[in-house]
Amino acid sequence: MGNGGLSPENLERARGIVALYPEPRSALIPLCHLAQAEHGYLTAGAMEDIAELVGCSPAEVGGTASFYDMLHLEPVGRYVVAVCTNIACMLAGAYEVLAHAERRLGVRTGQTSHDGTFTLEEAECLAGCDKAVCVQVNHRFFGPIDADGFDRLVDDLVAGRLADVVPSHGVLSRVHREVGLTARQAKAGREAGKSEEAGQSDETAGRIGS
Ligand code: FES
Repeated sequence: MGNGGLSPENLERARGIVALYPEPRSALIPLCHLAQAEHGYLTAGAMEDIAELVGCSPAEVGGTASFYDMLHLEPVGRYVVAVCTNIACMLAGAYEVLAHAERRLGVRTGQTSHDGTFTLEEAECLAGCDKAVCVQVNHRFFGPIDADGFDRLVDDLVAGRLADVVPSHGVLSRVHREVGLTARQAKAGREAGKSEEAGQSDETAGRIGS
């Protein structure tokens, strides 16, 4: 496996994720999230590992991942802070919050702070319009946020007070689930259900015919 690839533990987990799908390629996005949870972004080594696991080329992994804002192809900060500036948030003062965030974090939008703690992004509607101005940190929602609220949020993150709420690099629970059927188990279950149904129909037909 390539340099910067998945850890042995995550390779094992990745094989378990692949087994959940009838087609290995269907596991590509969850595996990207798994790799991102480990490294913070999709390293070349992780893309090689994923390609091998799902049966495609590393370029296809990168090409697919490049469609999704939630997946990073370059290093990002420990916390990716996304400020929505779409209509509901804009009307509630999103550009003021974004400008304040740039000053507070000492970066321009799209940049990462020198200490690698924060990456600041401007986002389209995050589907949290009821929280306008809505801010996401590693895919967790916060809002409504104003400049003071943003400062409190940053203080809490830096102090580690949100460690349980905002894991680094936004781990998604679905790639860490410990329960559920593999595709093979699900198929076996469906087939067992069909033969049981067939047996019941035969029995019913026998009763009707007798
Ligand atoms: S407009 Fe900001 S979350 Fe929808």
